[in-house]
Amino acid sequence: MSDVSTGEQGARTELVEEIFHGTGDTYDEVAHLATFGRDKKWKEELLSYLDSPKRILDLACGTGILLLEMKRRFECHITGVELREEYLRICRERVSQRGYEDVRLVLSNAEDFLIEETFDHITSCYIPKYVNLEVLVPKMIRMLAPGGLFIMQDFAYPNEPWVQDIFDDHFKRMKERCGHLPDWDDCWERLPEVLKKSTWIEDTQRLMAQEGLEDVSVVEQSRRMSALVYGRRPTG
Ligand SMILES: C[S@@+](CC[C@H](N)C(=O)[O-])C[C@H]1O[C@@H](n2cnc3c(N)ncnc32)[C@H](O)[C@@H]1O
Repeated sequence: MSDVSTGEQGARTELVEEIFHGTGDTYDEVAHLATFGRDKKWKEELLSYLDSPKRILDLACGTGILLLEMKRRFECHITGVELREEYLRICRERVSQRGYEDVRLVLSNAEDFLIEETFDHITSCYIPKYVNLEVLVPKMIRMLAPGGLFIMQDFAYPNEPWVQDIFDDHFKRMKERCGHLPDWDDCWERLPEVLKKSTWIEDTQRLMAQEGLEDVSVVEQSRRMSALVYGRRPTG
């Protein structure tokens, strides 16, 4: 059993490495292009669900786009967990340049991260399609304080055919648009298939409810090119 899950986890880690290897310095620019310029808007909507956070756990913090924005807005502790040192190094540099304190950055697979602390908010952008949610969701909920919010955002594959056409064309064109950034070629090769196969919305929704979260909800963004899924731990 553990061999199987290690094997599956290893394959997922390799996929993430293949997609993101060598892309750290250009990530923020490409994230803007790859999301039809909507990354900021999608994150803004996620942020609108946060309520006076004091202790945030941000999964797959990457170069820190969401983490730094949360630190700028809220007086709070943030723990960021990231699989890849290349991205975490950039995040670490940015935290230090801005003089932010009370930020802890951990190099770890989010599926393996479990500590004896609780967080009133657990946030994440673009991780669910890369992880085993059956492992991740229950583990994160163990670190969620009573009344705490667990919210994840990621790309979704749209369900309207005309939006699917736009989505498919967009990812085909990204390779040309990013022709000057060959390190991204593997991403354009692999990502569309990952997005089409992922059932992260339904899986997250089911697992959050199964693990006892309340008000479990899905918010479709930009005609379901992206979505937010969230739930709250009961206070009692
Ligand atoms: C598209 S980036 C998003 C980064 C950041 N959340 C943002 O919105 O700017 C996806 C990130 O997920 C990280 N990642 C993928 N699988 C992970 C895992 N199992 N544990 C932790 N991080 C992971 C990747 O290394 C990458 O930095």
